[in-house]
Amino acid sequence: MRGLRGGVAALLMGVLAGCGGEAEPRAAADFGEALFQDARLSESTFNRFSCATCHVTTPEAPAGRIDSGHSLYNVAARPGWWGGYETHLLDAVNFCYVNFMRGVTKLEAEDPRSRALYEYLSRISPDAQAPPLPFTVVKDIQDVPRGDIARGEAVYRAACQNCHGATHTGEGRLTELASLLPEVTQDYDRLFPGIPHAQVVIEKVRHGQFFGVGGNMPPYGTEALSDADLGALLTYLGL
Ligand code: HEC
Ligand code: HEC
Repeated sequence: MRGLRGGVAALLMGVLAGCGGEAEPRAAADFGEALFQDARLSESTFNRFSCATCHVTTPEAPAGRIDSGHSLYNVAARPGWWGGYETHLLDAVNFCYVNFMRGVTKLEAEDPRSRALYEYLSRISPDAQAPPLPFTVVKDIQDVPRGDIARGEAVYRAACQNCHGATHTGEGRLTELASLLPEVTQDYDRLFPGIPHAQVVIEKVRHGQFFGVGGNMPPYGTEALSDADLGALLTYLGL
């Protein structure tokens, strides 16, 4: 917490000193970068996610990383967000903050943290304009063809392991709240009688917490995770 408070203090001093020139936006962007990587941005003690848990900031995702959220490189240069549903950048950020990071109240525009995040997102947006990115949610869940087990293992490592840890043991998981995979499905006959286990998992991956599913796992649109990758993942999980 000390680092975060120090950051706030440094930022406020910059603002109060009214230095106005180059230094203050740069200090704000540095503070914003620290906030971006810090789960304590959210006041919830249950939260372990930072923005960086789900978003890279490079033009292309590094090898071995599949995220639910798009890269935020050039994000401030896009005309809209969340597949066109959000037209204000702070609203797009708050959607994540409240739904995934359990932020209790939205970040207000006047909050120094919003300002700092904005300066940081602007800094990683070098172009004047960038195209909006698609976000396609599969509404009606259907089964997907199973795929190659080695590919499925690679998908698991890239998409699920950071939060869920190793399969069967959960070793290294980000939060105790992330279920053991695939063992969580052992309860599904009781919880969701008559529904194939794979279908429940597809529902969770495609909808996250939405469509009445609950929790705070993010949803994967088809741009983030193809049906082919999902099918391979199910094979790897033995589903
Ligand atoms: C648990 C995962 C998760 C966390 C944590 C998260 N996001 Fe997101 N974010 C998503 C998903 C999923 C989307 C929807 C797909 C997309 O548009 O990128 C999204 C969308 C966005 C978008 C819109 C991008 C676009 O072009 O459509 C912005 C901006 C954004 N997030 C910023 C943030 C910031 C800033 C934080 C930290 C305060 C954050 N997110 C935390 C998962 C997350
Ligand atoms: C950003 C972190 C994060 C990522 C990435 C993530 N999960 Fe989760 N997942 C969670 C958390 C936290 C829970 C428990 C809370 C909830 O249900 O949302 C969970 C719950 C689940 C559940 C149990 C749902 C239930 O209630 O029975 C399944 C199944 C699941 N995840 C599958 C996956 C798969 C497959 C992937 C990779 C494609 C994945 N998750 C990626 C955080 C994550």
